[in-house]
Amino acid sequence: MLGKFITLEGGEGCGKSTNIKFIEQLLKEAGIPVVLTREPGGTVLSENIRQLLLGRDQEKISEQTELLMMFAARAQHIKHIIQPALEQGTWVLCDRFTDSSYAYQGGGRGIDSATIAWLENFSQNNIRPDLTLLLDVLVDVGMARAKNRGKLDRFEVEKMQFFNKVRTCFLEIAKQQPKRVKIVDAAQELSLVQEDITQLIQKFIHG
Ligand code: TYD
Repeated sequence: MLGKFITLEGGEGCGKSTNIKFIEQLLKEAGIPVVLTREPGGTVLSENIRQLLLGRDQEKISEQTELLMMFAARAQHIKHIIQPALEQGTWVLCDRFTDSSYAYQGGGRGIDSATIAWLENFSQNNIRPDLTLLLDVLVDVGMARAKNRGKLDRFEVEKMQFFNKVRTCFLEIAKQQPKRVKIVDAAQELSLVQEDITQLIQKFIHG
């Protein structure tokens, strides 16, 4: 692949939305062509799946269905957006990716990681992130921030225990894959979070 694939991960209220725009700006300032996208979502079909996944006014979604919908959205996103961009030499910056499936569907919902790994191999055509920044914040701090944003989606209404499992799983992935996954302390003041992000991105760009 000619382009690099960067993903941003973290729990609720970790500041992903603000910081992903900041990273996009850093890449642009470095003269790197970049596509900013998100999961679940990124194509028309995948954004429709996202609406179904996040909505709260429909029938109950089973854990298996939820996982398959995440990967259906992802397979479409990879095929139509991520892979073509990387092949052209455009970098891809994605708000959440497969680590979220391990953390939410695996850690949170309790689906075994071997099943998720099977789906990862089946649907991703060897596409894996080159760099992942994990914005880490204590669950109660993140949840308090997320609650201030208004109407909660189908994930945001989950209990503290669920999000603690999500966080533990993200931290475990970072521990297992330290070369790819870099932890950023998202409890810090925004300017300090962005200083850390700048250092990590500059190091990644310049090697
Ligand atoms: P996002 O818009 O990033 O939520 P937030 O800004 O509230 O953090 O993502 C939507 C939700 O989808 C989020 O609660 C996490 C969930 N999700 C999964 O459960 N599995 C996945 O594979 C992905 C990509 C997201």
